[in-house]
Amino acid sequence: MSKRRTPSMMTTEEAQRQETYIKQIRMQNDLEKSKTSKQKHYYIATFGCQMNAHDSEKLAGMLEQMGYQKTDQENEADFILYNTCCVRENAEQKVYGKLGYLKYLKDMNKDLIIAICGCMMQQDTVLNIIKSKYPHVDIIFGTFNIYKLPELLQTYLETKETVIDIWNEHKDIVEDLPSIRKYKFKASVNIMYGCNNFCTYCIVPYVRGRERSRQPEDILNEIKELVADGVKEIMLLGQNVNSYGKTLKDGISFAQLLRKVNEIEGLKRIRFMTSHPKDLSDELILAMRDCDKVCKSLHLPFQAGSTEILKKMNRKYTKEQYLELAEKIQNTIPDIALTTDIIVGFPGENEEDFKDTLDVVRKVRFSGAYTFIYSKRTGTPAATMEGEVPEEICQRRFNELQEVLQPIVYEKSQEFYGKTVEILVEEKSKNKDSYLTGRTDSGHLVHFEGDTSLIGQFVNVEIIEAKTYYLIGKLAN
Ligand code: 5AD
Ligand code: SF4
Repeated sequence: MSKRRTPSMMTTEEAQRQETYIKQIRMQNDLEKSKTSKQKHYYIATFGCQMNAHDSEKLAGMLEQMGYQKTDQENEADFILYNTCCVRENAEQKVYGKLGYLKYLKDMNKDLIIAICGCMMQQDTVLNIIKSKYPHVDIIFGTFNIYKLPELLQTYLETKETVIDIWNEHKDIVEDLPSIRKYKFKASVNIMYGCNNFCTYCIVPYVRGRERSRQPEDILNEIKELVADGVKEIMLLGQNVNSYGKTLKDGISFAQLLRKVNEIEGLKRIRFMTSHPKDLSDELILAMRDCDKVCKSLHLPFQAGSTEILKKMNRKYTKEQYLELAEKIQNTIPDIALTTDIIVGFPGENEEDFKDTLDVVRKVRFSGAYTFIYSKRTGTPAATMEGEVPEEICQRRFNELQEVLQPIVYEKSQEFYGKTVEILVEEKSKNKDSYLTGRTDSGHLVHFEGDTSLIGQFVNVEIIEAKTYYLIGKLAN
């Protein structure tokens, strides 16, 4: 009789297997370094969402363990990795453009290793294009097996032949991957992977697979370790966090998880994304209200205002339901900052439909929004729908949307004027010397003059200027 292994046993085993490859490569790299006294460098370009950014942190963690050091100069790297996104076509075009340039780098340096991974690789059409047009790519893998990078790299080093490893579904959730955080004081934690919603425009369910939640104990332990390592702010990540727990045996809801995370001592702020309106429960709204560490900001994509279009998008809520939900949230948590995603030009969208989108924007008064022109993704149901909206009309609607949205975002930003707010200082300002940048609980960016020793700390600033997309403050201690 074969013994059934628990998933966590399998994942530890797999992580240990990769560990041996990590050690092998590390030894080779150390040996080479002692001979040539040259340090090997890696360069990672990340496209797309926070999920990809977090995957890149794990990939960087493994590369550093294998003896590579990070560089921001692509032409100095010995190992180049593109972690790709396929949500919209322009993200894909960018990758193809850059791959052309890599051919030139490879011609200059035969030892350069080029790897590509992420969502784009999960599509057969893309894989065929890479194989036929970009043969200088050495390692290709997908979204389900990023933890196998050490093994794939070792295989390439041994054979010097292109290594392709793409799975169509996840096998194990491999825990305990080393990870290099961009910030010492804030970190992302996956709570679930994949998506089951199948919004008709979206390629994500096809490239990230079915929804699966991590065990709450694994999540809580990871966060506790991060806090012990100096992390003060956590971003809980999932394509659809509101349905967290539905795939677990002893179902725990996202709201319950949030309450548990809130109890972790030493942790100061909790954020999460992304929420789907159809699954956002009263229980969660109350948990957000009650938990002092949960930031009062919520990203709640509505995508389109027209109930007809929402139906075609398979979003499973109506315009009225979204408006009611937003109102309920704003009434329960009055200082909440709501942000959203909006798509214009979905197939069949007419002027009336588009007006519904503008109407939702005016009624909800978002603090910010990511706005997109619909991009046709082969393989999704919307790709074959009738009523394609001409490009000029999409562009006009997109511009009109900005004209309605921006003054609202500006007015919301003005509400901060003259107030003193607590921010977590994140980094030196990219635009102004001697300035630092931090974020409020609501997620607003604040630039202020201060010493770099404040990075990673909470400080109070008085807001002396409020722009549409950022605030200017001065230290108020
Ligand atoms: N075209 C345009 N925007 C899209 N999004 C997802 N798929 C598409 C598409 N095919 C947007 C949605 C989603 C965000 C991450 O990207 O607004 O919430
Ligand atoms: Fe895509 Fe919809 Fe899933 Fe978001 S919820 S990842 S838009 S299918």
